[in-house]
Amino acid sequence: IRLAVLASGSGTNLQAFIDAIKSGELNAKIALVISDNPDAYALTRARKNKIPAYYVGREKFNSREDYELKMVKMIKEADADLVLLAGFMRLLSPVFLHHFPNRIMNIHPSLLPAFPGLDAQGQALEYGVKVTGCTVHFVDEGMDTGPIILQAAVPVYTGDTRDELAYRIQMEEHRIYPEAVRLYQAGRLKIDGRRVIILPEEE
Ligand code: GRF
Repeated sequence: IRLAVLASGSGTNLQAFIDAIKSGELNAKIALVISDNPDAYALTRARKNKIPAYYVGREKFNSREDYELKMVKMIKEADADLVLLAGFMRLLSPVFLHHFPNRIMNIHPSLLPAFPGLDAQGQALEYGVKVTGCTVHFVDEGMDTGPIILQAAVPVYTGDTRDELAYRIQMEEHRIYPEAVRLYQAGRLKIDGRRVIILPEEE
């Protein structure tokens, strides 16, 4: 399977994929990494691993449509089968989504549908929940609303700072995101309306 990774930031999830591929846990190739942020450490991580990495800035394009179609073209030319959003801080419009039906995943640092949007870890602390976590889901037009593939729970401890909680959640992100791709690759994810059914492993 060939992966396209879109990232705006530090790219620890990208790193989790690089590591899972290196160790043989995941049989995949990262075809390209695209960032909307020229300073994203994700781009450096990619280059260190000889993965084609591109900065595509929104401001270089007249419209959001042109911007998204540029990324579509790059992803198709790289022959990627699956698009992974990994800390990509932009909502993608139907113009982009229609090119990759049920082929775009995202990771979000909460147990959706709780705390969608920005700073989910801060939202969880503010609310006072005692358990939060992370969610891998297919991407639809909404903000963190698509069909849920995998989730992992993480405890919130008294006195946690946002960074401590975020770190604990990331450890789980790095485990379940590659796992979700493995399930996809094995043909075990079946979308049924708004739900994802995980099919049993074939004997
Ligand atoms: C993660 O917390 C992820 O859940 C959210 O953005 C962050 C990306 O982190 N969508 P990284 O760039 O992979 O380190």
